Amino acid sequence: MDKRPIGIFDSGIGGLTVFKEIRKRFPFEDIIYFGDTARVPYGPKSRNTVIEYSIQNARFLIQQGAKIIVVACNTSSATALTQLQNLLPVPVLGVIEPGALSAINTSTNKRIGVIGTEGTIRSQAYSSAISKLDESCSVFSKPCPLFVPLVEEGWEDHEVTQLTIREYLTSLLQNDIDTLVLGCTHYPIIKSSIQKFVGDKISLVDSAQAVTDKLDEILPNRESKVIGKNRFYVSDNEEKFNSIASKILDLEIEKLIKVKLGEGWFIN
Ligand code: DGL
Repeated sequence: MDKRPIGIFDSGIGGLTVFKEIRKRFPFEDIIYFGDTARVPYGPKSRNTVIEYSIQNARFLIQQGAKIIVVACNTSSATALTQLQNLLPVPVLGVIEPGALSAINTSTNKRIGVIGTEGTIRSQAYSSAISKLDESCSVFSKPCPLFVPLVEEGWEDHEVTQLTIREYLTSLLQNDIDTLVLGCTHYPIIKSSIQKFVGDKISLVDSAQAVTDKLDEILPNRESKVIGKNRFYVSDNEEKFNSIASKILDLEIEKLIKVKLGEGWFIN
């Protein structure tokens, strides 16, 4: 039985939607989470910068003993997964392929919408993954960059968020999609508002659930009497992380440590 922790990283708080799903499904595993709150957002950044940050984040988690890395961030998964898999000595799981597979299994008319950050949509990672798995699918993509700051502001139910959803998704809906991939860590937090706008005939695919299904396939679920521990690391703004995290996870974060990543890194 491998007692080393599962390592998860994201550009910030959004990956907690992935953490939450993994924690629920793997109650006896220790989990370490790194949120790069000093350098968020990754969405508008260049490919090379996202790759550089992603490698630093994953290496940090491996230094902390991670036996597997889950790249919760869609932008990192879309941009840096191959580099991470080639470089790192442990398995690395991204959210794109599991999300793509789940979308294909969900769609009946094979017309799939994908929303994400500018970086994720620009990379065409979801459309390539979907076409590779099922070339008869048509994919319609749309970057929705404003959803991230709206969620970070805690405006899940705010009318500005409803208006932004309408603005971004109206044109996407004209493509007769029956499935919509929430290709960004933050979007599951506004899932119910998105569902309300797109209506019941469109199924939403949450990449947090999809990547946890994948983890379930490759990691034997440990049985133990001891509940797994959580450890959280951020690169800045512990207070903000703490308050949003307690809302998303509905739990008090006991262990939150600030680290500074770069050439080397240190723990404050
Ligand atoms: N975590 C990012 C993602 O899933 C969203 C926030 C950001 O732009 O860094 O793509």
